[in-house]
Amino acid sequence: MTVHFIGAGPGAPDLLTLRGRDLIAACPVCLYAGSLVPEALLAHCPDGARIVNTAPLTLDQIIAEIRAAHAAGHNVARLHSGDLSVWSAMGEQMRRLRAEGIPVSVTPGVPAFAAAAASLGAELTLPGLAQSVVLTRTPGRASSMPEGETLANFAATGATLAIHLSIQNLARVVDDLTPAYGTDCPVAIVYRASWPDERILRGTLSDIEGQLDDGIQRTALILVGPALAGEGFEESCLYAVDYDRRYRPSGADSPWSGWTPERP
Ligand SMILES: C[S@@+](CC[C@H](N)C(=O)[O-])C[C@H]1O[C@@H](n2cnc3c(N)ncnc32)[C@H](O)[C@@H]1O
Repeated sequence: MTVHFIGAGPGAPDLLTLRGRDLIAACPVCLYAGSLVPEALLAHCPDGARIVNTAPLTLDQIIAEIRAAHAAGHNVARLHSGDLSVWSAMGEQMRRLRAEGIPVSVTPGVPAFAAAAASLGAELTLPGLAQSVVLTRTPGRASSMPEGETLANFAATGATLAIHLSIQNLARVVDDLTPAYGTDCPVAIVYRASWPDERILRGTLSDIEGQLDDGIQRTALILVGPALAGEGFEESCLYAVDYDRRYRPSGADSPWSGWTPERP
């Protein structure tokens, strides 16, 4: 018996990996974090599966569900939104399961920041503008931030910031970032990326607050940084004609050296 933690993706039911789909189909028990995991994914569960929405449960109750499945020899599909490596609460469940000797596996999923970037049609790392992406959040009701992990500190790097769980703190985000990035810095808000009711706001640190309305709450990502403008960046060396690289060597050892393409 194994508990399979599966990244359920950002919302669109077809943004699930094939491995995740096959594991869901093979597990007679499915626990899913109902607040963000799309119910359409539950159609992959086998007939007669025990399907439990864990949104209203405590950690103790979730572990009790898993313990019961373990005693019955039933594999469990444990679905969390996006990917499991960030803000999934997988860590605390795993710690308990390992202590009880219950085997686990992890299958990654498409994270919200990648889905939001796809919706924007944006590369978040553009040469000369930003080569790092910081996945972060602001403090919430249930979670404080470790000292040092402040927006101002991250902003000092000039990286692209993907700020989660923070749409209700937009005013503070703007205040904390403006000194380092400037009022003209591009900002995008992607609400429910990949869901049918997805919305996108594009602006700058000076005007993004004015664009926000009550329709955008909770499931939204704030992306900030110069790379979002999608202009004023250098081309990468990767595809430059004179760049010698492993798969397209230009040196003397190259099987292609001296070769020029035929032109009609
Ligand atoms: C508890 S975290 C889950 C993150 C998830 N594990 C991931 O890999 O992206 C929830 C936050 O992720 C962001 N989020 C999750 N799904 C989203 C989506 N479809 N569109 C925009 N933001 C999303 C929002 O900032 C939301 O407050």
